[in-house]
Amino acid sequence: MKTDFTFGVDYYPEHWPRERWETDAAMMHELGIQVVRMGEFSWHKMEPVDGEYHFEWLDEALEVLKKQGIKGILGTPSAAPPKWLVDKYPEILPVDDHGQRYHFGGRHHDCQSNPIYRGYIRRFVTAMAEHFKDNDNVVGWQIDNEFGNAHAGLCMCESCAARFREWLEAKYEKVEALNEAWGTYFWSQEYDTFGQVDPPYVTTVGRNPSHMLDWKRFCSDLIVDFQAMQADIIRKICPNHFITHNFMGFSWKVNYFDLAKKLDFITHDQYTMLSTDEWPADDKILQTPDFAAATLELMRGTKKAPFWIMEQQSSITGWTHMAPAPRPGQIRLWTAKSVAYGADTIVYFRWRSCLGGTEQYWHGILPHSGIPSRAYREIEGTISDLAPVMEKIRGAMPKNRAAMLFSYDQEYAMQIQPHHPDLDYVGNVVSIYKGFFSHHTGMDFISDETDYKDYKILAAPLQYLMTGERLCKMEEFVKTGGILLLNMRAGVKDENNIAMSHRRLPGDLADLAGLEVPEYDCLRGFTVPIKWQDGEAGTARKWCDIPELQGAEAIAAYDGEFYAGSAAIAKNRYGKGWVYYLATEPDDATMARLAGEILAEAGIVDDFAALPTGVEVAFRGDYAFLMNHDAAEKHLDLPKGWEAILGETEAIAGYGVVVLEKKEA
Ligand code: GAL
Ligand code: ZN
Repeated sequence: MKTDFTFGVDYYPEHWPRERWETDAAMMHELGIQVVRMGEFSWHKMEPVDGEYHFEWLDEALEVLKKQGIKGILGTPSAAPPKWLVDKYPEILPVDDHGQRYHFGGRHHDCQSNPIYRGYIRRFVTAMAEHFKDNDNVVGWQIDNEFGNAHAGLCMCESCAARFREWLEAKYEKVEALNEAWGTYFWSQEYDTFGQVDPPYVTTVGRNPSHMLDWKRFCSDLIVDFQAMQADIIRKICPNHFITHNFMGFSWKVNYFDLAKKLDFITHDQYTMLSTDEWPADDKILQTPDFAAATLELMRGTKKAPFWIMEQQSSITGWTHMAPAPRPGQIRLWTAKSVAYGADTIVYFRWRSCLGGTEQYWHGILPHSGIPSRAYREIEGTISDLAPVMEKIRGAMPKNRAAMLFSYDQEYAMQIQPHHPDLDYVGNVVSIYKGFFSHHTGMDFISDETDYKDYKILAAPLQYLMTGERLCKMEEFVKTGGILLLNMRAGVKDENNIAMSHRRLPGDLADLAGLEVPEYDCLRGFTVPIKWQDGEAGTARKWCDIPELQGAEAIAAYDGEFYAGSAAIAKNRYGKGWVYYLATEPDDATMARLAGEILAEAGIVDDFAALPTGVEVAFRGDYAFLMNHDAAEKHLDLPKGWEAILGETEAIAGYGVVVLEKKEA
């Protein structure tokens, strides 16, 4: 299974005249491209008529690439079923929460539970795998493309509804248990049989939060199952090929920890500037360095292993609106950043900007003309600079002592009831991450299934849905010397999204936190001042838990409203460890100070404290990547014991990258 590539591109040979292919392959070779992904949307080209397969063009493309020493990854095209299939079986088109069917003409217009569709997928994937199993230029497979990157909701067709009922029956066994778990006594929602339960369609008013939570979990499981169906076929027929899928960072429709399990390694699509039809606010187009870092930490965390970037931004992004042109150096910087957080291979999206279709303005390495310009040259330099570094660090992992507990269940529950219009799970996670990031501390993103004992610090934001099992793990972690950071809305509900009532908030976490939360406040249109014990001021935003301390010590308190003087941040000794309770979502400076105190408590020293602002550092094994996100050059004052293997130790250029190697002190 060959996986030790450094650079690749996403290529659509079928979009271009046959005469161009040799030129493309030669140019790729010259650029340093070793691997190409193809085919993930080309179902109609491969099966133009029901049951008639045409893989010759892909054979030919693979042959042309082979002459230049370039290997191929094939995508299964289930993200784009052809018109003949949709016309023959319109029921494979997905349905929204009004019961309305989507139309053909975009992508991901497929229902992943539909048995007829699944039959077609099985047949197609089998034929494709059989055809390419002995092609020595194929190294691996990407299943589908960006699962969950579809229409706003999840398919609510009759087939999905039937499967949801089976899923519920397997989970609850008796309908009484479902009624209990969902609190259906409210508004006379009791079900008499599983057969009566529908997906959470639009209602006249309101939807049951427990119903919605199970629906989101079901949909994630469905996608995992849909992937498994394809992966099992390929694994059997092509045992020497790797199997992967391209993830999308903090996208949520499928639980990536679950999706990663069947894959040899995961890949991620990293667009540091994002611009599609859902035009984000101007200040949201560019991912902030901390957000992008958190994204990549999660991607590495889904398998606790290095990964690939299957689509790395290569130029201007945009569909109907466009993002600004990446400034000279930014493409190189963002590429290095992917490597810095764990990518062993970088595949750029896409080779050449396409002439037709929705993504005409999602630019490639080559512009429409096919004539190399700035992006091409920057990537040429990037490859020659980074490839040798990547060869050295392949496989290396960061040695993080801090972890972030990341949970799709909490994400779903907060989507269903965000509390405050600006409060969202990922935003809250990233706000905490940013505090540690400001002290140059990386964090492993871990799931509920992971053991905490490898870590000294565990941040567990929004432990809104709480389980006894997690509580036990947390107690054990802290008792034996771990430092746990909890925040607001902890222990509010059980795993079914039903409010807990056996004691005051934060429920059974109260003993760990050394406090109770009899009251809270949702900050609609106002903030509340915070004061640290030494008088430093901060701000509480969005939400305030109003704790009553029972053993914990306040390290910062609210300085306004009727709860002035109540703890905003508390610290409690528990066993050999500590529990911090952050009762609000504070401003960045307050979060940075708190993270600093936690790191100090843990004895973790920031060797790079003297880095200028705007310069990020990330670690892989004995290597450190310095990345300057500002346009201006910065002077560096580095700790002893590090040598530069890329760039210099005295200064870092605007948008520059320096890679350091740790030498024996
Ligand atoms: C990704 C996707 C690609 C392409 C790109 C630009 O999300 O995987 O197929 O659509 O974005 O929009
Ligand atoms: Zn469906």
